[in-house]
Amino acid sequence: MKLLKTLLVTAATLLPVSGYAQTVGFSQIGSESGWRAAETAVTKEDAKQEGITLKFADAQQKQENQIKALRGFIAQGVDAIFLAPVVATGWDEVLGEAKDADIPVILLDRKVDAPDDLYMTAVTSDTVHEGKVAGEWLKDAVDGKPCNIVELQGTTGASVTIDRKKGFADAIDGASNLKIIRSQTGDFTRAQGKIVMESFLKAEDGGKDICALYAHNDDMALGAIQAIKEAGLKPGKDIKIVSIDSVPDMHLAIAHGESNATVELTPDMAGPAFKALKAYWKDGTMPPKWIQTKSTLYTQDSDNMAAYDRKKDLGY
Ligand code: AHR
Repeated sequence: MKLLKTLLVTAATLLPVSGYAQTVGFSQIGSESGWRAAETAVTKEDAKQEGITLKFADAQQKQENQIKALRGFIAQGVDAIFLAPVVATGWDEVLGEAKDADIPVILLDRKVDAPDDLYMTAVTSDTVHEGKVAGEWLKDAVDGKPCNIVELQGTTGASVTIDRKKGFADAIDGASNLKIIRSQTGDFTRAQGKIVMESFLKAEDGGKDICALYAHNDDMALGAIQAIKEAGLKPGKDIKIVSIDSVPDMHLAIAHGESNATVELTPDMAGPAFKALKAYWKDGTMPPKWIQTKSTLYTQDSDNMAAYDRKKDLGY
């Protein structure tokens, strides 16, 4: 009798009653980049395919808006929450509230600095590895020649910014020919990427002393490409460029010789997240704490036009 009661209570608290459409609240960061817009589009489409009602909240880059959205989802009694956390810290309290309400939270594309029992799983790429791949590519490309590097960082305090910076630094560590001479945030946007690159070029004698740019995402690199052209230099030639995301415009830039390499980040974080949720709802199966997505390097040797077409079909 006691066992039956325990089973009924577990089923009632963990698994949504079958026969009604489950609701997932999605707290998205904003729309700072082409990649972010694609992630939003793909998540909405995945939800439709899965027959799940998606409540979408755009936080406009503010953590306080995300916390407010999460509290709103909890109050509405959603069946699960997707959170793309703008920064890594400051989540313990609200994630604790979701846990107390028995609402599983799945992190999408960025991680949090919080005890891992406060969320069900994180669907992300290996973001340190992305930076490493970019650094290794540059090391090979300069082939031992001296090279001053400028770095455009992502949003300050975001897990991806911290990791991509570390991965790149690790890759070039010990290569005495490679030196990061300037590093500043461009907040993952095209507009800021351009502005910060303009300031780097001005500070470095019109860019004569800059051999390479490492940008934590493609949008900042695309803004920087504009700045490099306006300074009378040839992006991809006078200044080598490596970045992360693999958005369609970057594939065009690489195909036209105006950029050199990008590390692909899939915008479909929601696919694996919905799969994990469905297994959990079916029989309580818990996913691993980290569901890792793939990272692929594209260079001028890759078929960038095919990648461009494929991306366009994906919702970019
Ligand atoms: O968290 C993923 C990053 O966020 C993407 O690389 C960047 O474009 C976005 O803003």
